Order: sequence, then structure tokens, then C-alpha cells
Amino acid sequence: MTEEAKTLSVPVRLGGGRGYRVEIGAGALARLGEAARKSLPKEARKVALVSNERVLKLYGERAVSSLKGAGLEVSHYSMGEGERFKTLRTAERVLEFLSESGLERSDAVVALGGGVVGDVAGFAAALHLRGVAFVQAPTTLLAQIDSSVGGKTGVNTRAGKNLVGAFHQPAAVVVDTATLKTLPRRELTAGWCEAVKQGAAGDLRLFERTKRFLKEESRRGSNRAAGANVVELDGGRDGELARIIAAQCAFKARIVAGDERESLKRDDARSRKILNFGHTVGHALEAVTSYRRFRHGEAVGYGCVAAGEISKRLGLLDGSELESLREAVALAGRLPSAADLDAELVGRALRKDKKAVGGSVRWVLLESLGRARVVDGREVPERVVLAAIRAALAAPPNPPK
Ligand SMILES: NC(=O)c1ccc[n+]([C@@H]2O[C@H](COP(=O)([O-])OP(=O)(O)OC[C@H]3O[C@@H](n4cnc5c(N)ncnc54)[C@H](O)[C@@H]3O)[C@@H](O)[C@H]2O)c1
Ligand SMILES: [Zn+2]
Repeated sequence: MTEEAKTLSVPVRLGGGRGYRVEIGAGALARLGEAARKSLPKEARKVALVSNERVLKLYGERAVSSLKGAGLEVSHYSMGEGERFKTLRTAERVLEFLSESGLERSDAVVALGGGVVGDVAGFAAALHLRGVAFVQAPTTLLAQIDSSVGGKTGVNTRAGKNLVGAFHQPAAVVVDTATLKTLPRRELTAGWCEAVKQGAAGDLRLFERTKRFLKEESRRGSNRAAGANVVELDGGRDGELARIIAAQCAFKARIVAGDERESLKRDDARSRKILNFGHTVGHALEAVTSYRRFRHGEAVGYGCVAAGEISKRLGLLDGSELESLREAVALAGRLPSAADLDAELVGRALRKDKKAVGGSVRWVLLESLGRARVVDGREVPERVVLAAIRAALAAPPNPPK
């Protein structure tokens, strides 16, 4: 596809007539300036681009020239790379930069990068002058299908991940699917695990469609040189990739529209809570390995299988559906081994998860693929949890050979 290729447009409709669009396509960064112009106040003059060195080097020029082309004055800030820079300290530095740049109330922050950049930049945008607009230009698969849509922003503290933050919806999201071509394989696997999660938790058709796409990718991939750590999406598949990402964004948009702030009162099958499917065990796996072994999405891959195992053991989910879920996680890519981890340790760690309400874990389980049910931890026997974790960790859902 050329830079001129058509972009897909997914609306996110929020209450009170608010909303924004997610523009998706190969080469969409060329239209970042136009998307910003259309969505920002007409008085907007300046934008502050927040990114990191790696992403700036790869895509900074394209983003900046598009923004300048739309008549915006651009300054840029490069934050440290990776989760360990998702801190209040970094947010403070970004805030200082926004002040130094003279960013006014009608101006905006643009986040160019993965979920870490998006979360920190969005958080700084929520705080600067009590809130300026921000535009997301996500460059990882996880950010493109999940974190850039929905308005959750924030940082980690010593007490845990994402414990400090704000709801601050973007004014626009521009997803350039061509940026995925430079994304390391593991980051891609992590993103696909979250894609499988979204389908499994709330939309059977999305689940099946994502699985079909991954099957085809895996068929083509097996013909490619082994060991390549960079994604080589075939030219002809660009269109389908953009459509899958659009479908994933549309799903996330639907859930967010119905429960923008993840209401404490809601725990039905359409509530924002269901997006935590796979995250209870996933977070525990990250914690017991000190956040070093797994990419977040990889841990969620195991977490989805574990939650599926619990669902089956409680008689909620059919065995063949659990098998289908396992297959989908396997198709997302190879996960680091977890066979050496102690299930009891994981079980203890998950009881500390912050998603606990009133002191007990809230499990997101499955009644069927595409239909989740939130279950109070007290209704799930400890031995079931442990057996499910053991089953999920012992047989890593690795890609079919
Ligand atoms: N706000 C939300 O709703 C939400 C939802 C899910 C996850 N998150 C957050 O997102 C974060 C994870 O995001 P992530 O998985 O995108 O990780 P990340 O932002 O750390 O990016 C992963 C790595 O890829 C690099 N990178 C980014 N784009 C690239 C490209 N196109 N080519 C090559 N390298 C590239 C980054 O520099 C980084 O090293 C976590 O902090 C998580 O809490 C937020
Ligand atoms: Zn996640």
C-alpha cells in the first residue's frame, strides 16, 4: 500500500456528545497533522510531541513533518525507553517540558510510541494547565488495539503498576499499521495476546476473525527465515491487518462507550471490567518474575488460558471452547516458559492484585467464547485456582509446528 492508501475510521462515541475518531491504515502517520487539525481547537498553534529515542529515530520525522504541514509548531521530548520510565518522575519532566514549550490551553500533546509513552504523555496532558488536548499515534500493536483507545492514562509507583492516573480521552488516534514492521517479534506476540483477550472476553466474531488472521500469518511465517525478530507482514496482508486492528479498536470503543470510567457498580458482560480477562493471573505472573521474564501481553496470554481453565473447572465453559482459546493464544506466538513457576506463589501474588474490590479478587471468567462473567473470588475455590494455574503453566500454549 502507498502513503496515499485509504485509512479506516472508527468512531468512539462517549456520553454528552463527546467522542473522537481512530484513523487506521498503512502510512496513516502522513495524515497525523490533518487529524490533529481537525480534532483540536481552532486556536491550537503548538503541539508537544512526546516519544522515545528509538521511535523518534524511526518515525519522528514523518510525524513532525505531517504536523508542521498542518501549520502546527512542533517541539519534541524524548523520554526513557520501557516500563521503568513510566513514573511520576518522568511525568514531572514531561510537565516541565510542556511549560518550557509554552504550551497553552488550546494547544496539545501528541504521543508517538507504545503504551508507555501514551500513558505518560496522556497523563501529563491531563495535568498540564488542568488538562490540554492530546492525540495518540500508537506504534506498538498493543497500543494500537488497546491502550490508545479509552482514555486511561497514568504511571506506576513503588506500590504497583498503574496505581496513579487520570481518565483523559484523546482528541484523536492515528494508527499507522506500517510502523509494526519494525516492531520486535515479542512485542507483536504480546499485542496479539491482548487481541485474543478482547475477542474471547466480549466478541466471538472478533475472536474467530483474529484467530483466522493469525493462522494465515503463521502459515506464511513458517516459510520465512527462522530467527527473524522483525515482523515481515506481507504486502498483500496490509489491508487485512488494518481491518483486524480496526475491528479490535471498534470493540474496545464499544466497551468504553458503555462504561467510560469502569464503574464500580458494573460487572455485567458489557462492562469495562471484562477487559481484565486474563489479567488476574497475568499480573501475578509478572509480579513473581519481578517484571523481567514476560512482556505484559505474554503474561496475559498465560492468564487467559488460566482463566479459561478455571471457567471449565467450574462448569461454565465447554472443553472444546477452552481448546479453541488455547489454540488462539498459541497462534499469537511463542511465550517464554513458565513451567518452573510455583503455582502457589502465583496464587498468593494474585490475591494482592489492585483490581480486588472489598478485599476479594474479581475474576473475569468465560461462559463461552465472547461472553465473560465477573465472579467474586470467594466463589472460586482455592484448589480450582491452583489446579488451573498449574495446567496453564505446565503446558505452555506454544505455536503449532
Ligand atoms: N491506558 C490503557 O488503557 C492501557 C491498556 C493496556 C496497556 N497499557 C500500558 O501499556 C504499556 C505497554 O505498552 P507497550 O506494550 O506498547 O510497551 P512499550 O510502550 O514499552 O513499547 C514496547 C517497546 O517497543 C518499542 N517500540 C515502540 N514502537 C516501536 C516500533 N514501531 N518499532 C520498533 N520498536 C518500537 C518501544 O520503544 C519499547 O521498547 C504498559 O505500561 C501498560 O500498563 C495501558
Ligand atoms: Zn493488558
